[in-house]
Amino acid sequence: MMIAVPTTPYRQTFEQEDQMFRLLRQLDLSPEASQRGMAQSIGVSLGRLNALLRQATEQGLVAILDREGPDRRARFAYAITSRGAAMKNRLTDDFLARKFAEYDALHAELTGATSGLTPFNSRTRLMNNNLAPIPELYVSYESAQKLKAEAADLPSWDLTPRQICDLELLMNGGFNPLKGFLSEADYNGVVENMRLADGALWPMPINLDVSEKYADTIEVGQDIALRDQEGVILATMTVTDKWVPNKVREAEKVFGADDGAHPAVNYLHNQAGAVYLGGPITGIQPPVHYDFKARRDTPNELRAYFRKMGWRRVVAFQTRNPLHRAHQELTFRAAREAQANLLIHPVVGLTKPGDVDHFTRVRCYEAVLDKYPSATTTMSLLNLAMRMAGPREAVWHGLIRRNHGCTHFIVGRDHAGPGNNSQGVDFYGPYDAQDLFREHQAEMGIEMVDFKQMVYVQERAQYEAIDEITDKDKITVLNISGTELRRRLSEGLEIPEWFSFPEVVTELRRTKPPRAQQGFTVFFTGFSGSGKSTIANALMVKLMEMGGRPVTLLDGDIVRKNLSSELGFSKEHRDLNIRRIGYVASEITKNGGIAICAPIAPYATTRRAVREDVEEFGAFVEIHVATSIEECERRDRKGLYKLARAGKIKEFTGISDPYNVPENPEMRIETESSDVDHCAHQVLLKLESMGLIGMTN
Ligand code: PPS
Repeated sequence: MMIAVPTTPYRQTFEQEDQMFRLLRQLDLSPEASQRGMAQSIGVSLGRLNALLRQATEQGLVAILDREGPDRRARFAYAITSRGAAMKNRLTDDFLARKFAEYDALHAELTGATSGLTPFNSRTRLMNNNLAPIPELYVSYESAQKLKAEAADLPSWDLTPRQICDLELLMNGGFNPLKGFLSEADYNGVVENMRLADGALWPMPINLDVSEKYADTIEVGQDIALRDQEGVILATMTVTDKWVPNKVREAEKVFGADDGAHPAVNYLHNQAGAVYLGGPITGIQPPVHYDFKARRDTPNELRAYFRKMGWRRVVAFQTRNPLHRAHQELTFRAAREAQANLLIHPVVGLTKPGDVDHFTRVRCYEAVLDKYPSATTTMSLLNLAMRMAGPREAVWHGLIRRNHGCTHFIVGRDHAGPGNNSQGVDFYGPYDAQDLFREHQAEMGIEMVDFKQMVYVQERAQYEAIDEITDKDKITVLNISGTELRRRLSEGLEIPEWFSFPEVVTELRRTKPPRAQQGFTVFFTGFSGSGKSTIANALMVKLMEMGGRPVTLLDGDIVRKNLSSELGFSKEHRDLNIRRIGYVASEITKNGGIAICAPIAPYATTRRAVREDVEEFGAFVEIHVATSIEECERRDRKGLYKLARAGKIKEFTGISDPYNVPENPEMRIETESSDVDHCAHQVLLKLESMGLIGMTN
């Protein structure tokens, strides 16, 4: 059988492209090389090199540096630009694809059959071999130094924590075949049918979302610098696309519903910027991590490790939870079933709000690692920002693990499930993720090891997959849900050995002591003169008398003197004032203290924001001091109501400024019929009933 070989004119184009590819590669690797050296290593004449350099400079792929320097050679100092680096990445793909095609044609000519390495409509095919290095988007160290200096003059974007996670995986090949943040065409394809514009499977939109204000300052075609939160330039991006996404459509197609109860939908509408920028990335340096450095590996580092260990088959276990006995059983079974080595691959980027923090989890993983055979198991941390997108997320996780050199991937019950929707029903069916994975796994280059839920059978003292139990009516199945585990931890109750390992429980208890030893915030809200400060003071004294935890009072007046002395009473200033109080309270709560706040805090949305800040670390007890405005005005302890009525104080809460009555506070106090001591005591009783104070105090 004869295979058509490309005709001469195409060859010319290919040859030129190959030369350009070699030039860019050479400039990236040794920008200081002489022109003669460069011509030699590319395999072209000096004249041809000059023509190539001219062409590359005109296209903005190469920059001429230091033309005025004293060294004559400096006149010829060329450097690859971020645009050139992006072009180099594209040409690398084309170059490899062409070489494979040539090989395939030769293979067919010699053997009469294709090699099976083509077609190349999807770049993922190239990565089928889990041991070969995967393309990264970084330029060489030398080019990075130069690019970084140049990028300092570019308009920059300060990346959000989620974007930093995405960028890290883009740059190190974890998101291969993506070459940058999605273009509009890629985004539309991904949202609508999980495919990039070139047809490659990719289920998750990876976007650089920015504010409208920032987007207005950026032109398509421009390069921008991407900085981490300390201002370090991690990458540059050539903006090829700028558009306003249809977020409702994105929510429905990607997450299954435009429902704010889904954490990623909530993020999409309330945190993500209104405009998306897309374009290829040039990696300058990876984001810096100070924690668990030795446990973090890039895809190529893991591939190299597997190569070195001779691991041909590797099954990855994705997790965002501490490992308990059920997980161990599941991973053992998966390794046995796939006849593979095991990679425990926990996510340490962003997970579901409310999850155990990654510091604690990694300590838990380390504590149980010796329960695995070290010759066949390893653990590595993945800085992924999860979206909790269930089925799509499972496919995404699979592709990411394939990029990390794994051949198999465990998908259990309710993989990356976001929990209930606003109707109280699960967003996805428990095995939807397995179904979608199965549908696509042939083209993914990674195989699924699927499991039904693992449960503990008391009579046989072992874990079993629920669908494999044939004598359900004769046995006792034990299970502790995540919610139940949290309850037991917060109340200091026993966690049985059949459920978890003592080492894991000890770590969890260190981070989450029982509620009565955790920090919390009591947040009084009400009109001026309602009695907030007086009750708050009495409560503080009572709590100090009990001892055990430091108590701080953030009274409205005190805060306005110390924290917010420059602020007035406009909506904007009041919000700022309350957010400051919330910040301090959340820090106190995080550090195990008790914060008592007593501002007016008239706006419900701001109170909700403060609640969210605090609840990340401990309980938030909102108490509405419900003294009526008439009573406050009658008392007029500071004479302010009189002034407000006379128009001498503007924007006075309850008189000329609104107060949103709390709808669901933890407690409401009537002061008109009880004295201060009684009110404070009522609060104490409430705190006790919530388990926040008790015998251990
Ligand atoms: S807010 O809205 O929560 O930021 O207010 P807050 O920081 O608690 O400050 C309220 C105290 O400031 C005095 N004051 C006013 N209150 C309401 N409206 C206006 N325009 C105003 N101007 C001054 C008032 O004494 C409040 O003290 P409290 O302790 O609430 O009586």
